[in-house]
Amino acid sequence: MSKKETFLSLNLSLAPLLLLLLFLLSCVVHGVEEKKIFSVHNNIWSPKKSNEALSSCFSHNLGKGRESNTLEMKHRELCSGKTRDWGEKLRRALVLDNIRVQSLQLRIKAMTSGTTAQSVSQTQIPLTSGIKLQTLNYIVTVELGGKNMSLIVDTGSDLTWVQCQPCKSCYNQQGPLYDPSISSSYKTVFCNSSTCQDLVAATGNAGLCGSNNGVEKTTCDYIVSYGDGSYTRGDLASESILWGETKLENFVFGCGRNNKGLFGGASGLMGLGRSSVSLVSQTLKTFNGVFSYCLPSLEDGASGSLSFGNESSVYKNSTSFSYTPLVQNPQLHSFYILNLTGASIGGVELQTSSFGRGILIDSGTVITRLPPSIYKAVKTEFLKQFSGYPSAPGYSILDTCFNLTSYEDVSIPTIKMFFEGNAELEVDVTGVFYFVKPDASLVCLALASLSYENEVGIIGNYQQKNQRVIYDTKQERLGIAGENCSI
Ligand SMILES: *[C@@H]1O[C@H](CO)[C@@H](O)[C@H](O)[C@H]1NC(C)=O
Ligand SMILES: *[C@@H]1O[C@H](CO)[C@@H](O)[C@H](O)[C@H]1NC(C)=O
Ligand SMILES: *[C@@H]1O[C@H](CO)[C@@H](O)[C@H](O)[C@H]1NC(C)=O
Ligand SMILES: *[C@@H]1O[C@H](CO)[C@@H](O)[C@H](O)[C@H]1NC(C)=O
Ligand SMILES: *[C@@H]1O[C@H](CO)[C@@H](O)[C@H](O)[C@H]1NC(C)=O
Ligand SMILES: *[C@@H]1O[C@H](CO)[C@@H](O)[C@H](O)[C@H]1NC(C)=O
Repeated sequence: MSKKETFLSLNLSLAPLLLLLLFLLSCVVHGVEEKKIFSVHNNIWSPKKSNEALSSCFSHNLGKGRESNTLEMKHRELCSGKTRDWGEKLRRALVLDNIRVQSLQLRIKAMTSGTTAQSVSQTQIPLTSGIKLQTLNYIVTVELGGKNMSLIVDTGSDLTWVQCQPCKSCYNQQGPLYDPSISSSYKTVFCNSSTCQDLVAATGNAGLCGSNNGVEKTTCDYIVSYGDGSYTRGDLASESILWGETKLENFVFGCGRNNKGLFGGASGLMGLGRSSVSLVSQTLKTFNGVFSYCLPSLEDGASGSLSFGNESSVYKNSTSFSYTPLVQNPQLHSFYILNLTGASIGGVELQTSSFGRGILIDSGTVITRLPPSIYKAVKTEFLKQFSGYPSAPGYSILDTCFNLTSYEDVSIPTIKMFFEGNAELEVDVTGVFYFVKPDASLVCLALASLSYENEVGIIGNYQQKNQRVIYDTKQERLGIAGENCSI
């Protein structure tokens, strides 16, 4: 909206007035279009800011009493502890995100056609380790058997697991491995138990038992493969788990003795999917199958929160909640699916007949993927309203890009998605653009097209930032409201 050079030559006291005038002018020019001011260089990776807020993977629990069901949620990039080349990281994340989505699409195709996900993904996806888990960006800390463990949050899988001693193969993690031998609350799950049988539904692999070196083995072995070469395997066990004042005895988890993948320093993973071994199902009595999160934006280095139960006292929502039913699809039972019925750009509703289909909501995919026909409509309208800015070449999956280096503030059209039942998601201003280059010379619309019309769309975590998203598996619905996540 205003060029930096113009800014610098101004008498300082006039600057705000001019900004206001320019803003009013743009309102007149654009009529009723809804726009928001976005500050181009005010983010954690801007070369202008030296943010050295290096921190550990561990986070604190929040408050006492009812609020103790709420966990601080951190962006994983802030726990890596290494010197950061943000540009490299931001670009790599896009490439990995694309591989994750391809493997998800194959898994979906396999689930809907009845073949096993394993055979499909192993033959068609390059076995690059840890891809899926690298894009899972958010971590929380819980106490397992009395020890703090940092866990990556995943709504797309079910079993919670940690790296476990003695370990056959473990990646580097921050803090000590979980050690069952020093915990009096650790219990082995036997392979003749129904919990062991339930593993098939949760992981796609049956719990294994039987002979081991000629000795009869009575423990239940689990394997979870994430479809991209990363996996965890070990013993299914139970242990007490604690966060805040919430304590659960006999929580079933995986004691992982052979784990492969770049899980980025975390102790393991928290599974918030829908099958019986997921944390959500195991806490059904306490929390009624309800959890919610508010994902912080990496740009400002803030923390968000993950809350169990319907804790309306912890919601700091700035708009009213709207609810949409979870679409029932028995073949895709472990996913949360919504019905996308429309979208608008700057208040202009898009016209395409492709709405009314299921779309996954996922905490692990970064960039939202839309069917080609919907993406085309979004792009056309966005370019119409965000005009006059120097365009730039596309990068990886992103094809609507600009060079914004010489701008301080730009005014960008609001993006809204609508769901069955008049629910809406207004994408936060930090969720509209993706910085391929930290100096803003390559900034792209943070939405991408699927390759084929018949693939399943995905709402990524980049567009869920600064929203309170309530997953209610009891009433089979999902609630959304705007919220500033920073805590
Ligand atoms: C876990 O971390 C919290 C917050 O840092 C701390 O208060 C608590 O004492 C730790 N618990 C253990 C068992 O180390
Ligand atoms: C399962 O196996 C364990 C260990 O062998 C045994 O103690 C237990 O009685 C068995 N339970 C059932 C229900 O068969
Ligand atoms: C949560 O509680 C509030 C107020 O008690 C209620 O209006 C809302 O419907 C509940 N939401 C869910 C998901 O249960
Ligand atoms: C937060 O959500 C509740 C439930 O929808 C609503 O009553 C309340 O007004 C919302 N808060 C704000 C500030 O909009
Ligand atoms: C989505 O909602 C529309 C309108 O209510 C309906 O026609 C369509 O069948 C729904 N799609 C799914 C996948 O539930
Ligand atoms: C971006 O724009 C700036 C200022 O207009 C220019 O100096 C720079 O060369 C451009 N960068 C690229 C990569 O095009």
